[in-house]
Amino acid sequence: MAAKKILNFGAGPAKLPQEVLQKVQRELIDYHGEGISILEMSHRSKTYAGINDGAQQKLRLLLNIPENFKILFLQGGGTGQFASVPLNLIGKTGKADYIVTGNWSRLAAKEAEQYGKVNYVLPETKTFIGPPPKDQWKFTPDASYVYICDNETVYGVEYPEVPDTNGVPLVADMSSNFLTRTIDFSKYGAIFAGAQKNVGPAGVTIVIIREDLLNNALPVCPTVLNYTIMARDNSLHNTPPVFSIYVMDLVFNWIKSQGGLKEMNRRSQVKSGLIYDTMIATKGFYSCPVNKSSRSRINIPFRIVPADVAKQAELEEKFLAGAEDLGMIQLKGHRSVGGIRASLYNAVGVEDVQALADYMTNFYETASK
Ligand SMILES: Cc1ncc(COP(=O)(O)O)c(C=O)c1O
Repeated sequence: MAAKKILNFGAGPAKLPQEVLQKVQRELIDYHGEGISILEMSHRSKTYAGINDGAQQKLRLLLNIPENFKILFLQGGGTGQFASVPLNLIGKTGKADYIVTGNWSRLAAKEAEQYGKVNYVLPETKTFIGPPPKDQWKFTPDASYVYICDNETVYGVEYPEVPDTNGVPLVADMSSNFLTRTIDFSKYGAIFAGAQKNVGPAGVTIVIIREDLLNNALPVCPTVLNYTIMARDNSLHNTPPVFSIYVMDLVFNWIKSQGGLKEMNRRSQVKSGLIYDTMIATKGFYSCPVNKSSRSRINIPFRIVPADVAKQAELEEKFLAGAEDLGMIQLKGHRSVGGIRASLYNAVGVEDVQALADYMTNFYETASK
């Protein structure tokens, strides 16, 4: 009997393209006729050097990364970067500006406080629904860098445009929207992303950094977090997460074969549009608290708001159970905010999201009877 079709809306680790998984399966035992698997191969081998360099070149082409930016494949995840960013970049003036729009940028700012003076650009808030108007932003003129989280995965807050930092290098955490749209590198000093949402398995973290920002690490910066050493050694200073980088390289091929970032962006607009339009059509039964201009194309948190508010928890549980019965999994909201969250990463197909939107409509109609 064929297994039930699963539609995976998980926030990460998340769905990978089926074609990529099938290729990994085919190649696993005997990598390209070498008689051993990629998992067993030296990271100093010619074969792995080809994968490491090939993945960098493909990423450079996909994103149109200028030559004066270095591409690093590191470990430690997004959380590792919360420390790496200040350890490598705050030394210039000892100060950095953090624009906190959700829990991930808040955690990054807290981590940075260990290494220098952190200025909070926005007024403090507990409700993350998108940044306030620009007249409330307070930058420090001599900050070493300005930090943003381009897409807040838990709260579903995404920047529609790159904030203007008046020449101060902008550092962006793109863990949850990496490779879902093009990037204008003239506006960034550094970008990082954990792979486990849009580009591969957990284990590798991509850092793209402008060369002139290197050579500035604090003396306490550990070697494995040091961008300058990792750039000098082509991300091969120590053993890299070989398997994760190999799978990520295959995902780069897949993205190119699908039409590149323009197509990934088009699909993300269509997919998120299906969910936001369903919210409008169901007249407030589903509610996303985020301001329209800051709504994420990638992670959509929402609550069910029934006429009788006391029924919210019961209805949300019923919604999630009914979704699971249809094979739609990992839709539960983050433990800190509750409710429901649909994550629409690159490998999640438009037809999967259409199925979710149809289910939302049916559930609304049944509940409203
Ligand atoms: C935007 C963002 N930044 C950072 C992180 C932390 O990543 P990691 O678990 O790889 O440390 C996450 C995790 O979901 C995230 O969504």
